[in-house]
Amino acid sequence: MSALGQPYQLRGLKLKNRIVMSPMCQYSVEAEDGQPNDWHFVHYASRAVGGAGLIILEMTDVEPDGRISNRDLGLWSDDHVPAFRRLVDAIHRHGAKVGVQIAHAGRKALDAATPVGPGDEPFAPDAKKPRALTTEEARALVVKFADAARRAVEAGFDTIELHGAHGYLIHQFQSPGINKRTDEFGRDLSRFGVEVVRAVRQVMPADMPLLMRTSAVEYMEGGYGLDHTLKMCSAYRDAGVDLFDVSSGGEGGKPGPTQPGNYPGYQLPLARAVKDGLGVPVMAVGMLDEPALAEYAVASGDADLVAVGRGMLRNPYWAFDALRKLDGADAAPPAQYQRAYL
Ligand SMILES: Cc1cc2nc3c(=O)[nH]c(=O)nc-3n(C[C@H](O)[C@H](O)[C@H](O)COP(=O)(O)O)c2cc1C
Repeated sequence: MSALGQPYQLRGLKLKNRIVMSPMCQYSVEAEDGQPNDWHFVHYASRAVGGAGLIILEMTDVEPDGRISNRDLGLWSDDHVPAFRRLVDAIHRHGAKVGVQIAHAGRKALDAATPVGPGDEPFAPDAKKPRALTTEEARALVVKFADAARRAVEAGFDTIELHGAHGYLIHQFQSPGINKRTDEFGRDLSRFGVEVVRAVRQVMPADMPLLMRTSAVEYMEGGYGLDHTLKMCSAYRDAGVDLFDVSSGGEGGKPGPTQPGNYPGYQLPLARAVKDGLGVPVMAVGMLDEPALAEYAVASGDADLVAVGRGMLRNPYWAFDALRKLDGADAAPPAQYQRAYL
């Protein structure tokens, strides 16, 4: 059997294979007040039918002005829980496990009247000027992350991923190019993320793993590199992160000398570096939708899990198709579709 098709366990989370649906905002016209609806239901349940071991729901925000756009999902109110629970139950019925990516867009909240962030610099010259959070407000946001995580647990999610990448709030705090604060959240660049990890961990059951997406390198002029990431992520690991989902970039600013890659597997060496540097399991992501390459990522030990994004937008059955290519008839389709493979 393929390495990609092997089961995987992290704390009490048991996955039937190593394939993860990467979190992807739907910016769905129908999303109202952060509530998932029929679009999200069909979209995510289809990928569960399609054989993914773990589905991570798109960036889901801790307050309305923490959304990138007003079409994004949220967990800022107890009223959100039933709609998420309906989604979680459907995904479970089709044999997949499910997590949610909890986030705050910070200065990249495009629809907020005045976005907030560690400072008042916009992420791009034509972007809205953010307002710098006070120390008290930053502390209050940590509590909002924990409240959203508690609701995720109530809704039945199997795991939680914190969005620490792509230039959103946790990333903004950890970036020396963005965070110029002089308070506790600036003197220690990992402080905000560490506080969030600790607070979220406290509301999660002990056997539920906590994942964190990180941008391992920044591409802006003067952006940080792997050494800085390893320092930040070792603090997050010590605070309670079980696995890092290794991405890169997204911070905004003028593109520097290091450009984002756009070739198959471009972030895989970053995943390996985080895994080796910190001794933690990692999820790799980024143009890994060629099944042989996804297989290589796991079989080589570069990554423990492989996340597929755009490949799963194009094909809800990506996971099953990939395993069919690698394992032949050993990869069984859902009973309802078996006649297609006789
Ligand atoms: C439409 C779309 C929405 C995305 N939304 C998110 C998101 O909510 N959170 C996140 O961490 N990454 C997001 N991403 C990035 C993907 O999760 C993934 O990391 C990226 O697309 C690279 O993987 P791929 O080559 O398999 O698509 C998004 C990507 C796309 C195409």
